[in-house]
Amino acid sequence: MKVRKAIIPAAGMGTRFLPATKAQPKEMFPIVDKPAIQYIVEEAVASGIEDIIIVTGRNKKAIEDHFDRSIELEETLKKNKSQLLEAVKKISSLANIYYVRQKEPLGLGHAVYCARSFIGDEPFAVLLGDDIVCSDVPCLKQMMEVYEELQATILGVQKIPDTEVSKYGIVGCEPAGDRIYKVTSLVEKPTKSQAPSNIAILGRYIISPAIFECIENTTPGKGGEIQLTDALRLLMEREKLYAYDFIGERYDVGDRFGFIKATIEFALKRDDIKDSLIQYIKEKLNNEKLNNVPC
Ligand code: UTP
Repeated sequence: MKVRKAIIPAAGMGTRFLPATKAQPKEMFPIVDKPAIQYIVEEAVASGIEDIIIVTGRNKKAIEDHFDRSIELEETLKKNKSQLLEAVKKISSLANIYYVRQKEPLGLGHAVYCARSFIGDEPFAVLLGDDIVCSDVPCLKQMMEVYEELQATILGVQKIPDTEVSKYGIVGCEPAGDRIYKVTSLVEKPTKSQAPSNIAILGRYIISPAIFECIENTTPGKGGEIQLTDALRLLMEREKLYAYDFIGERYDVGDRFGFIKATIEFALKRDDIKDSLIQYIKEKLNNEKLNNVPC
């Protein structure tokens, strides 16, 4: 079956980025001049997704406004800023975008469950609202190609440093093809000694609809939240699960340092900013060196 729909969970509280997230969604933080969530919607569209549902919550209205038309702004830009006008108009016609509210941020599993009636009985993609992947072939597209072959749930993974395992859902797995693993165990945020490997799920999934029953049977886990990883473990008892080691650089823009790294990476790809940025960083590093010279 073809994957046509995607869920973008974007209802989290963003506590790692307070106070910036007190009244504004981290998913709207600009990476250079484009909100993080727009990169994610564009990735989904470039991967062949037709319908997207964004799971929102309190303080997330800016997300809906961003993907809506802004007639007053368009009228103003029409006068003499035709390039910007095109860029602004394009946003509101990227895809069919729908919204559902997660009334309380009860975890990623719960957020995905909020989109159940929209998804129905077909496989779907999940792209986390604060995870951006920079790659030649869109990350989800790479996974779609693997899905076509395997027709089973696929988790987007990459190896991470051992010291980081306690931040992610970690998979135990065995090789099953080029960059593909068969998943044999799953643990949410394990300690270093509990972790079955250092292979982490990084914000991209293609999931069978059977997950919804599994989420119903998932009891709240780490932090009192209904974890998607725990529901995936139940799914693994019923169906095969695979992991795909995607090609690309992934940035967690819900984390301060991840956000700064993504900003620099994307700025370096922009012809209008790159040279000044390199010049600025060089100057900074030189000053830093001069300041650290022992007297
Ligand atoms: P995160 O764990 O990164 O988001 O979830 P968070 O809970 O906002 O983060 P912190 O730890 O408080 O800073 C990954 C994605 O899942 C969404 C988030 O908005 C984010 O895009 N999410 C998370 C939900 O939609 N609902 C939830 O209950 C939790």
